[in-house]
Amino acid sequence: MELTGKVALITGGAGGLGRAFARTLVEAGADICLFDVDQSALDEATAALAQTHKHRRCVGLTADVRSPAAVQQAVTEAVTALGSIDILINNAGGSLHTPKALLEITEADWDLVLDVNLKGTFNCCQAVIPLMRDRGGGRIINLSSIGGRTASIVTGVPYAAAKAGIIGLTRRLAKEAGPWGINVNAIAPGTVLSGERMVRLWQELSPAEQQQTLETIPLGRLSTPEEQAEVVRFLAGPGAVYITGAVIDTNGGRFMG
Ligand SMILES: NC(=O)c1ccc[n+]([C@@H]2O[C@H](COP(=O)([O-])OP(=O)(O)OC[C@H]3O[C@@H](n4cnc5c(N)ncnc54)[C@H](O)[C@@H]3O)[C@@H](O)[C@H]2O)c1
Repeated sequence: MELTGKVALITGGAGGLGRAFARTLVEAGADICLFDVDQSALDEATAALAQTHKHRRCVGLTADVRSPAAVQQAVTEAVTALGSIDILINNAGGSLHTPKALLEITEADWDLVLDVNLKGTFNCCQAVIPLMRDRGGGRIINLSSIGGRTASIVTGVPYAAAKAGIIGLTRRLAKEAGPWGINVNAIAPGTVLSGERMVRLWQELSPAEQQQTLETIPLGRLSTPEEQAEVVRFLAGPGAVYITGAVIDTNGGRFMG
């Protein structure tokens, strides 16, 4: 129960990985706040947590991470409800239905992917870091991706740019927030069958394409959400106190930097 007494805010918390992070962190003793734009998924996710962990506080707030004002308001509500934010998981994002060939990418596609993944991460950090600084420290874990580490055929150009941008943002923030006791790290998952959409995308590949993908992964298989969540738990916990500005390649060896 290494996170007892801590409050974790998970953006995109109603999605596949967000729910797995919430389950794992709540099991480690944390109280949880989820931000998401999908109200019904948010209600479902918070109800599931409340049912399995009655002794923990779990709050779901509708917040679009693209809007600094919406983020600020939701952060204020989260602190009113839970007292503090000790751990921030910037997880809202994805390729948001835009994996397309270069010449088919629209300005709207570009803006959506960059705004949710990269600007959203920045907005949440900017709203939460002053609170962490005033309390003497905190942990921030950002979701990059294999798509931000190396060219990946399954993601589009905007996603690659956003997830590579998150790595730069992580390092620069680690430098600025380190003196305040705030550790800022990122994880870079490969394909995770995190929900129905990812399962469908994987099943749409032919057996030959699936085999080709698996051959690029030294560990020879895709990851589970729980495996990603264990790394997040580590980065949020006491064992990672001297790690900051790092990108942990949770992609089975597909990228070795
Ligand atoms: N699943 C994978 O294979 C994989 C691999 C590498 C990285 N990632 C990253 O992990 C994160 C989570 O992925 P997932 O597979 O759980 O995706 P998901 O689609 O299941 O979850 C994403 C969540 O973000 C929410 N969201 C979307 N736009 C938002 C906004 N503007 N404000 C707030 N919330 C918003 C969605 O409603 C959804 O609940 C993403 O950042 C993704 O890029 C996933």
